[in-house]
Amino acid sequence: MKALLPIALCIATLAATAAPAKPLVAFFSASGTTAAVAERLAQAAGADLYEIKPDVPYSAADLDWRDAGSRSSREMKDEAVRPPLGAPLPDLAAYDVVFVGFPIWWGVAPRQVDTFLDQGDFAGKKLVPFATSGSSGIGRAESALQERHPALDWQPGKLLNRASDADLAAFVAPFVE
Ligand SMILES: Cc1cc2nc3c(=O)[nH]c(=O)nc-3n(C[C@H](O)[C@H](O)[C@H](O)COP(=O)(O)O)c2cc1C
Repeated sequence: MKALLPIALCIATLAATAAPAKPLVAFFSASGTTAAVAERLAQAAGADLYEIKPDVPYSAADLDWRDAGSRSSREMKDEAVRPPLGAPLPDLAAYDVVFVGFPIWWGVAPRQVDTFLDQGDFAGKKLVPFATSGSSGIGRAESALQERHPALDWQPGKLLNRASDADLAAFVAPFVE
Protein backbone atom coordinates (compact mmCIF):
# COMPACT_ATOMS: atom_id res chain seq x y z
CA MET A 1 0.00 0.00 0.00
CA LYS A 2 2.83 2.36 0.97
CA ALA A 3 4.48 1.69 -2.38
CA LEU A 4 1.33 2.79 -4.21
CA LEU A 5 1.16 6.18 -2.50
CA PRO A 6 3.65 8.01 -4.77
CA ILE A 7 1.83 6.68 -7.84
CA ALA A 8 -1.54 7.84 -6.48
CA LEU A 9 -0.09 11.29 -5.73
CA CYS A 10 1.33 11.46 -9.23
CA ILE A 11 -2.05 10.64 -10.79
CA ALA A 12 -3.79 13.20 -8.60
CA THR A 13 -1.28 15.88 -9.65
CA LEU A 14 -1.72 15.02 -13.32
CA ALA A 15 -5.51 15.16 -13.01
CA ALA A 16 -5.31 18.58 -11.32
CA THR A 17 -2.98 19.89 -14.04
CA ALA A 18 -5.19 18.62 -16.86
CA ALA A 19 -8.43 20.02 -15.38
CA PRO A 20 -9.77 22.97 -17.42
CA ALA A 21 -9.51 26.34 -15.68
CA LYS A 22 -12.68 27.44 -13.92
CA PRO A 23 -14.32 30.58 -15.28
CA LEU A 24 -14.84 33.60 -13.03
CA VAL A 25 -18.19 35.38 -12.73
CA ALA A 26 -17.46 38.97 -11.62
CA PHE A 27 -20.47 41.17 -11.03
CA PHE A 28 -21.53 44.58 -9.79
CA SER A 29 -25.04 44.87 -8.35
CA ALA A 30 -26.49 47.87 -6.55
CA SER A 31 -29.83 46.37 -5.55
CA GLY A 32 -29.50 42.60 -5.87
CA THR A 33 -30.99 41.71 -9.27
CA THR A 34 -27.68 41.18 -11.07
CA ALA A 35 -26.26 39.44 -7.98
CA ALA A 36 -29.05 36.84 -8.11
CA VAL A 37 -28.49 36.05 -11.78
CA ALA A 38 -24.68 36.07 -11.29
CA GLU A 39 -25.01 33.39 -8.61
CA ARG A 40 -27.12 31.21 -10.93
CA LEU A 41 -24.69 31.81 -13.80
CA ALA A 42 -21.73 30.78 -11.64
CA GLN A 43 -23.56 27.57 -10.78
CA ALA A 44 -24.34 26.89 -14.44
CA ALA A 45 -20.70 27.48 -15.42
CA GLY A 46 -19.08 25.82 -12.38
CA ALA A 47 -17.42 29.20 -11.92
CA ASP A 48 -16.02 31.15 -9.00
CA LEU A 49 -17.94 34.25 -7.98
CA TYR A 50 -16.48 37.71 -7.27
CA GLU A 51 -18.47 40.80 -6.34
CA ILE A 52 -17.24 44.12 -7.70
CA LYS A 53 -18.06 45.96 -4.46
CA PRO A 54 -18.12 49.74 -4.22
CA ASP A 55 -16.14 51.24 -1.33
CA VAL A 56 -19.43 52.67 -0.03
CA PRO A 57 -22.70 50.86 -0.88
CA TYR A 58 -25.22 52.82 -2.96
CA SER A 59 -28.19 54.18 -1.00
CA ALA A 60 -31.62 54.65 -2.59
CA ALA A 61 -30.81 58.37 -2.90
CA ASP A 62 -27.51 57.52 -4.64
CA LEU A 63 -29.46 55.45 -7.21
CA ASP A 64 -32.11 58.10 -7.96
CA TRP A 65 -31.80 58.67 -11.71
CA ARG A 66 -34.39 61.44 -11.59
CA ASP A 67 -32.01 63.48 -9.43
CA ALA A 68 -29.30 64.94 -11.68
CA GLY A 69 -27.14 65.50 -8.59
CA SER A 70 -27.34 61.94 -7.21
CA ARG A 71 -24.14 59.90 -6.90
CA SER A 72 -25.06 57.61 -9.81
CA SER A 73 -26.11 60.53 -12.03
CA ARG A 74 -22.85 62.38 -11.35
CA GLU A 75 -20.77 59.25 -12.05
CA MET A 76 -22.59 58.43 -15.26
CA LYS A 77 -22.30 61.99 -16.61
CA ASP A 78 -18.51 61.68 -16.70
CA GLU A 79 -16.98 58.76 -18.64
CA ALA A 80 -13.64 59.27 -16.91
CA VAL A 81 -14.95 58.60 -13.39
CA ARG A 82 -13.52 55.44 -11.79
CA PRO A 83 -15.20 54.98 -8.39
CA PRO A 84 -12.94 53.16 -5.90
CA LEU A 85 -13.65 49.50 -5.15
CA GLY A 86 -14.23 48.25 -1.63
CA ALA A 87 -12.42 44.90 -1.97
CA PRO A 88 -9.18 43.73 -3.56
CA LEU A 89 -9.37 42.05 -6.95
CA PRO A 90 -9.21 38.24 -7.04
CA ASP A 91 -6.12 36.46 -8.38
CA LEU A 92 -7.02 36.73 -12.07
CA ALA A 93 -4.14 34.51 -13.15
CA ALA A 94 -6.31 31.52 -12.28
CA TYR A 95 -8.93 32.30 -14.99
CA ASP A 96 -9.11 32.14 -18.79
CA VAL A 97 -12.74 33.29 -19.03
CA VAL A 98 -14.28 36.13 -17.03
CA PHE A 99 -18.02 36.79 -17.19
CA VAL A 100 -18.61 40.45 -16.27
CA GLY A 101 -22.11 41.27 -15.00
CA PHE A 102 -23.77 44.60 -14.21
CA PRO A 103 -27.07 46.49 -14.20
CA ILE A 104 -27.62 48.80 -17.17
CA TRP A 105 -27.33 52.40 -16.01
CA TRP A 106 -28.23 55.09 -18.52
CA GLY A 107 -27.88 52.51 -21.28
CA VAL A 108 -24.37 51.37 -20.35
CA ALA A 109 -22.34 49.65 -17.61
CA PRO A 110 -21.85 51.50 -14.29
CA ARG A 111 -18.40 53.07 -13.84
CA GLN A 112 -17.54 50.54 -11.10
CA VAL A 113 -17.16 48.01 -13.91
CA ASP A 114 -14.60 50.27 -15.63
CA THR A 115 -12.65 50.50 -12.36
CA PHE A 116 -12.55 46.69 -12.19
CA LEU A 117 -11.47 46.40 -15.84
CA ASP A 118 -8.78 49.10 -15.45
CA GLN A 119 -7.33 47.57 -12.29
CA GLY A 120 -7.12 43.93 -13.42
CA ASP A 121 -4.73 42.27 -15.84
CA PHE A 122 -7.03 40.61 -18.36
CA ALA A 123 -4.41 39.87 -21.04
CA GLY A 124 -5.12 36.56 -22.76
CA LYS A 125 -8.55 36.19 -21.13
CA LYS A 126 -11.96 36.10 -22.76
CA LEU A 127 -14.40 38.64 -21.32
CA VAL A 128 -18.12 37.87 -21.57
CA PRO A 129 -20.52 40.65 -20.53
CA PHE A 130 -23.99 40.05 -19.11
CA ALA A 131 -26.50 42.48 -17.66
CA THR A 132 -29.89 43.05 -16.13
CA SER A 133 -32.04 46.10 -16.83
CA GLY A 134 -35.50 47.61 -16.57
CA SER A 135 -35.97 47.20 -20.32
CA SER A 136 -32.85 48.37 -22.19
CA GLY A 137 -30.78 45.95 -24.24
CA ILE A 138 -27.08 45.25 -23.65
CA GLY A 139 -25.85 46.36 -27.11
CA ARG A 140 -24.90 49.93 -26.23
CA ALA A 141 -23.18 48.78 -23.04
CA GLU A 142 -21.14 46.25 -25.02
CA SER A 143 -20.04 48.86 -27.59
CA ALA A 144 -19.07 51.29 -24.83
CA LEU A 145 -17.03 48.64 -22.99
CA GLN A 146 -15.24 47.73 -26.23
CA GLU A 147 -14.47 51.41 -26.90
CA ARG A 148 -13.20 52.07 -23.38
CA HIS A 149 -11.24 48.81 -23.06
CA PRO A 150 -10.20 48.04 -26.66
CA ALA A 151 -7.28 45.77 -25.77
CA LEU A 152 -9.55 43.20 -24.12
CA ASP A 153 -10.87 40.08 -25.86
CA TRP A 154 -14.63 40.79 -25.74
CA GLN A 155 -17.05 37.96 -26.50
CA PRO A 156 -20.75 38.41 -27.38
CA GLY A 157 -22.72 39.25 -24.24
CA LYS A 158 -26.30 38.73 -23.19
CA LEU A 159 -29.07 40.50 -21.32
CA LEU A 160 -30.21 38.03 -18.65
CA ASN A 161 -33.53 39.55 -17.55
CA ARG A 162 -35.82 36.66 -16.57
CA ALA A 163 -33.28 34.12 -17.89
CA SER A 164 -34.28 30.48 -17.39
CA ASP A 165 -31.79 27.82 -16.31
CA ALA A 166 -31.77 26.60 -19.92
CA ASP A 167 -30.92 30.16 -21.13
CA LEU A 168 -28.01 30.30 -18.67
CA ALA A 169 -26.73 26.86 -19.68
CA ALA A 170 -26.80 27.85 -23.37
CA PHE A 171 -25.01 31.14 -22.65
CA VAL A 172 -22.12 29.52 -20.75
CA ALA A 173 -21.83 26.43 -23.00
CA PRO A 174 -19.21 27.87 -25.41
CA PHE A 175 -16.95 28.73 -22.46
CA VAL A 176 -17.10 25.58 -20.35
CA GLU A 177 -15.94 22.06 -21.16
C1 LIG B 1 -29.00 54.92 -11.89
C2 LIG B 1 -29.80 53.89 -12.65
C3 LIG B 1 -29.91 53.97 -14.02
C4 LIG B 1 -30.64 53.01 -14.71
N1 LIG B 1 -30.71 53.10 -16.09
C5 LIG B 1 -31.40 52.15 -16.77
C6 LIG B 1 -31.46 52.21 -18.21
O1 LIG B 1 -30.87 53.06 -18.86
N2 LIG B 1 -32.21 51.26 -18.84
C7 LIG B 1 -32.89 50.26 -18.16
O2 LIG B 1 -33.54 49.44 -18.79
N3 LIG B 1 -32.82 50.19 -16.80
C8 LIG B 1 -32.09 51.09 -16.10
N4 LIG B 1 -32.01 50.99 -14.73
C9 LIG B 1 -32.64 49.85 -14.05
C10 LIG B 1 -31.60 48.76 -13.71
O3 LIG B 1 -30.79 48.42 -14.83
C11 LIG B 1 -32.30 47.45 -13.26
O4 LIG B 1 -33.21 47.72 -12.22
C12 LIG B 1 -31.26 46.42 -12.81
O5 LIG B 1 -31.84 45.12 -12.92
C13 LIG B 1 -30.78 46.64 -11.39
O6 LIG B 1 -29.79 45.69 -11.10
P1 LIG B 1 -29.14 45.54 -9.64
O7 LIG B 1 -30.28 45.21 -8.68
O8 LIG B 1 -28.20 44.38 -9.79
O9 LIG B 1 -28.45 46.81 -9.30
C14 LIG B 1 -31.29 51.93 -14.02
C15 LIG B 1 -31.18 51.87 -12.62
C16 LIG B 1 -30.43 52.83 -11.95
C17 LIG B 1 -30.32 52.72 -10.45
